[in-house]
Amino acid sequence: MTTASEPRSPAPIPPEVAADLARLPRERLPALLRRMPKAELHIHIEGSLEPELIFDLARRNGVALPYPSVEALRAAYAFTDLQSFLDIYYAGASVLLQEQDFFDMAWAYFEKAAADNVVRAEVFFDPQTHTERGVPFETVIRGLHHACQRAHAELGISAQLILCFLRHLSEEDAFDTLEQALPWRKYFIGVGLDSSEVGYPPEKFARVFARCRELGLQVVAHAGEEGPPAYITTALDVLQVQRIDHGVRCLEDAALVQRLAASRMPLTVCPLSNVKLKVFERMADHNLPALLAAGLCATVHSDDPAYFGGYLNQNFIDTFAALPQLGATEAYTLARNSFEASFADERSKAVWTAELDAVLRTLAPSRAPGPNPTQDRVTP
Ligand code: ADE
Ligand code: ZN
Repeated sequence: MTTASEPRSPAPIPPEVAADLARLPRERLPALLRRMPKAELHIHIEGSLEPELIFDLARRNGVALPYPSVEALRAAYAFTDLQSFLDIYYAGASVLLQEQDFFDMAWAYFEKAAADNVVRAEVFFDPQTHTERGVPFETVIRGLHHACQRAHAELGISAQLILCFLRHLSEEDAFDTLEQALPWRKYFIGVGLDSSEVGYPPEKFARVFARCRELGLQVVAHAGEEGPPAYITTALDVLQVQRIDHGVRCLEDAALVQRLAASRMPLTVCPLSNVKLKVFERMADHNLPALLAAGLCATVHSDDPAYFGGYLNQNFIDTFAALPQLGATEAYTLARNSFEASFADERSKAVWTAELDAVLRTLAPSRAPGPNPTQDRVTP
């Protein structure tokens, strides 16, 4: 995986792949986006809890909800910023009490991910949201782990968990959570940092991240979503993260962009989230084309798909529909970047890359006729 200091370059696109990309007509871009295998590296599992499941679980567990119906809850999903979303997101998670609830939530997500051709999922979970309410850590992780195992066995998705610390809580609380997690060390591959960003800089968690690195855990952190580029710099320097979640505000600091590009530091970008949380006013204003043009290892993900209007393929479709600068080469690059940025083994990455190349080959017109292009327009 990436470290902050080594200069690295992207794997070059083989000439025959470049030729297929050049031949792919724009009308077939949606088919490529939908069918290409991809890694989902930025999904909060609690953010996949659909309103229907929230109501089912509330009934099952006898939890009273402050909304009279699914429709009323969905109507409340009009966010003004990150905090306005987090308030509803934490309230939604209050229906999760039993191991079966965590399994059901994660399994529902994996079924959707499989339909989007996700081959690898590195899934965030927020244990403090649950342990704070008296739900044992064991209940959370057993349910999620069981769903990951079944996703692999039945859907062919390689799925792993990443434990996120809530940055609005103290470092002491994070240490306490790590303590509760350690008996389950084999059930998660890394740690992350999420929740309210502004006012909670990465360096607040320097010691707990140092301990996690000593334990051999992978380390990632949200930075530069709403917070300034300086938070990206301290996530790199102090937390020594291997990926930056979001990171879109890096473009405000040219030296930082150079550093991120030279080290191939992945930025897990979530376009629908950024528009819903007003990081960008419209999808047409999103800086994904600029991130890619700057040579950054950007990837596309869904963040909290139940709240932001769509899962992984919807993120790709809506982003490419709004940004005509993005074409087949960028689609391919984003899929390749997602494998490169993942914590999977190199053999799996090579298999997924070969599958990606095969999908592209079947869509490139001179090698195979493919589907009727008029059915494949990029429409949101
Ligand atoms: N937790 C869930 N979604 C988040 C986001 N987009 N940013 C920070 N914390 C989160
Ligand atoms: Zn996130």
